[in-house]
Amino acid sequence: MKSKYKFIMAATITGLNLVCPQVDAQGLKDVYKDFKFGNILNSTTVNNSNMKALVLTEFNSITPENELKPDATMVQSGSTNENIKVQLNAGAKAILQFCQDNNIALRGHCLVWHSQTPSWFFRENLTTTGAIVDSATMNRRMESYIKNIFSLITSSYPNLNLYAYDVVNEAFANDGGGLRPAGTASGQSPWTLIYGNDDFIVNAFTYARRYAPLGCKLFYNDYNEYISAKTNDMYNLAMKLKAANLIDGIGMQSHLDMGYPDANLYGQAVAKFASTGLEIQVTEIDITTSTGDFVAQGLKYRDIMTKILAYKNNVSAFVVWGIQDNQSWRSYGKPVLFDSNGNKKPAYNELYNLGSSTGTPEIQSTNSPRAWITGNQLNITGVSQGKPWFVYSATGILVSRGIAESAKSTITLNIPSGIYFFRAENHSLKIVN
Ligand code: XIL
Repeated sequence: MKSKYKFIMAATITGLNLVCPQVDAQGLKDVYKDFKFGNILNSTTVNNSNMKALVLTEFNSITPENELKPDATMVQSGSTNENIKVQLNAGAKAILQFCQDNNIALRGHCLVWHSQTPSWFFRENLTTTGAIVDSATMNRRMESYIKNIFSLITSSYPNLNLYAYDVVNEAFANDGGGLRPAGTASGQSPWTLIYGNDDFIVNAFTYARRYAPLGCKLFYNDYNEYISAKTNDMYNLAMKLKAANLIDGIGMQSHLDMGYPDANLYGQAVAKFASTGLEIQVTEIDITTSTGDFVAQGLKYRDIMTKILAYKNNVSAFVVWGIQDNQSWRSYGKPVLFDSNGNKKPAYNELYNLGSSTGTPEIQSTNSPRAWITGNQLNITGVSQGKPWFVYSATGILVSRGIAESAKSTITLNIPSGIYFFRAENHSLKIVN
């Protein structure tokens, strides 16, 4: 069960009209109401109680990082062209069970990909030494795999909210300009090799449409999606699949860096994808930094989210690829919202504040109490339970104070325009009304 923390912020105040509402503890999933806010779990993190607690507070969508990929689910032994055997490994089972038990929606990732797919799947006699098969054989194998994996998931977890699936992943060349190069070497695609055109994509979506459970939206997912040649490749494919009613959405992986791309280029891709009328999901966002400037990183997350919010009617999920920096596949660039100790980074705070539509605090601190004002509402978060907080006027007169009865709170306070200072736990923040 999802835990809900109820709390009341008490405040003593003179001459001000103060209301003390009872509110739910809020995470990112609560401040972003227009779409799901997700993250990933893997076979390690799903067994870590701190991670599970954090997920319950912050996220309402989970993608298994590796556990539903073809190399995790395909079973060579006993497979035939008509019947590709499938399994859910222990990590997959733990993740799917956790999501089902806690009513967290699941993004399936992924069915057809050049990477993390066993080499025998593409070869004669389903052996690693066989010659590459023809497209007719591959169609039968692909259909069977897609049918069997959907069937295994839905029969094993009948109450799981499997709301989206990446049907085809990374089919295009790195920077656009057509399909990924044919071949079996790293970065090359056996799919392009076998089909020579995009028939495998159309067929994959055809089979997925046939076997996906009700409510499971079908996505094409790719990276470098903001490079205009690739944006165009993805757009054209999406429009073609849409005309045949085979696709529901476009996944923007969004593996970004502080240096590239800038938010405007990213925003152009969002606009182009939105113009398809399909859903957009940010499926794997992370933003690497080489300097460790987390304040700048936070602002970049904010800028990217601002581009997303401009098309929020099209967007159905925003998924970060990693909970803590040290767990990220790009850990060298410390690219996600929590540091290696599980503390919130500026990126978290920026997204939280933007999502609460409350404006940003004038001075923002990391992992510490924050206060900011919109209209007549003073918002306070992050004061440890039992600790006092104070609001002073610019001239140092105490305007309001209270004791945090929980680590997060929001109070509503009528307060004249001006500059104030908020203090709690040795932090002092300037807030402007
Ligand atoms: C990555 C995982 O995070 C790593 O653990 C794994 O070793 C390689 O794959 N695009 C995708 C994801 O679609 O599946 C990749 O995930 C990251 C890039």
